Amino acid sequence: MTLPEFQNQRVLVTGGAGFIGSHLTHALAFDNDVTVYDSLINGDLENVPEDVNLIKADVCDDEALHQDGTKADMIFHEAAMVSVAQSIDEPVKSQAINVDATHSLLEEAQKRDVRVVLASSAAIYGQPTRTPIEETDPKEPTSPYGLDKLTIDHYARLYNDLYDLETVALRYFNVYGPGQTPGDYAGVISVFIDQALSGEPITVHGDGEQTRDFVFIDDVVQANIKAATTDAVGEAYNIGTGESVTIRELAELIQDITDTDSDIVHTDARSGDIEHSEADISKARDRLDYEPTVSLREGLERTVEWYREELE
Ligand SMILES: NC(=O)c1ccc[n+]([C@@H]2O[C@H](COP(=O)([O-])OP(=O)(O)OC[C@H]3O[C@@H](n4cnc5c(N)ncnc54)[C@H](O)[C@@H]3O)[C@@H](O)[C@H]2O)c1
Repeated sequence: MTLPEFQNQRVLVTGGAGFIGSHLTHALAFDNDVTVYDSLINGDLENVPEDVNLIKADVCDDEALHQDGTKADMIFHEAAMVSVAQSIDEPVKSQAINVDATHSLLEEAQKRDVRVVLASSAAIYGQPTRTPIEETDPKEPTSPYGLDKLTIDHYARLYNDLYDLETVALRYFNVYGPGQTPGDYAGVISVFIDQALSGEPITVHGDGEQTRDFVFIDDVVQANIKAATTDAVGEAYNIGTGESVTIRELAELIQDITDTDSDIVHTDARSGDIEHSEADISKARDRLDYEPTVSLREGLERTVEWYREELE
């Protein structure tokens, strides 16, 4: 992939061996000098292109961050403790990784005057009071993870306002696509596809009427590139599609695309689950020129194709 708007830069991608970070790394590596900074706790070396430098270190390692981590023209900060459940079990650790390390990164970036595009999350809104959710809507996170993301989202703005550091926070909604593996924290799409392809029942929590805004990984990469080149810094942007589906509809769509015999079964609702989520993306559209390009059906077909290849 060539990115005419983003070339010949020294780029650092923290969490670059993970799902989103590795797609970003692949997109950038063609025309830029990319370094991935990842502890590999959740990422996979196989996700990192061969010609990319790798710093295998923890973002909590201040020395590594200071020495190598921020020698770049641009930083994309994706590394995080990504599991909401784990953040509830280990809130202090979540804060250390998700807040303190990000804070150190912003400090280093500020000393070197390096723009930071960081991964925030729709989790900052908690149980939304309405949909679609605008950036200015109430934020009452329901987990340490959500609170930590809200904190760094605010820090990003403060570093811009107080110290002139160029920052952009991207509030991802539900990101999916090839490379996202099923597991404890995995997005619902990878779990459903895994169940459908292995002939197991597709398990929908509760009545399945809860809604989500699923955004395909290529559009998240696009948002990051736009954020790296925009003049509209010091801002946070919702990154979704502006459309939502119910989880029941999603399960049916995956049934259809995989042509599976798996039935959809309903299990107990999860306590604390967000009922409805959908991004208002007008701000990203207006100021970043961000436009989602991949429909849910097309994104799911591409994701299922990847899973099939992986299974072979
Ligand atoms: N996937 C989504 O739907 C979604 C939604 C909202 C926000 N986000 C955010 O996007 C970012 C990327 O998420 P993802 O889905 O690619 O997750 P992922 O787990 O696939 O990637 C995270 C990467 O960070 C690395 N990492 C974790 N802790 C680290 C540490 N202490 N030091 C160094 N590296 C560390 C992991 O090894 C992994 O490679 C995260 O910040 C996440 O919170 C993701």
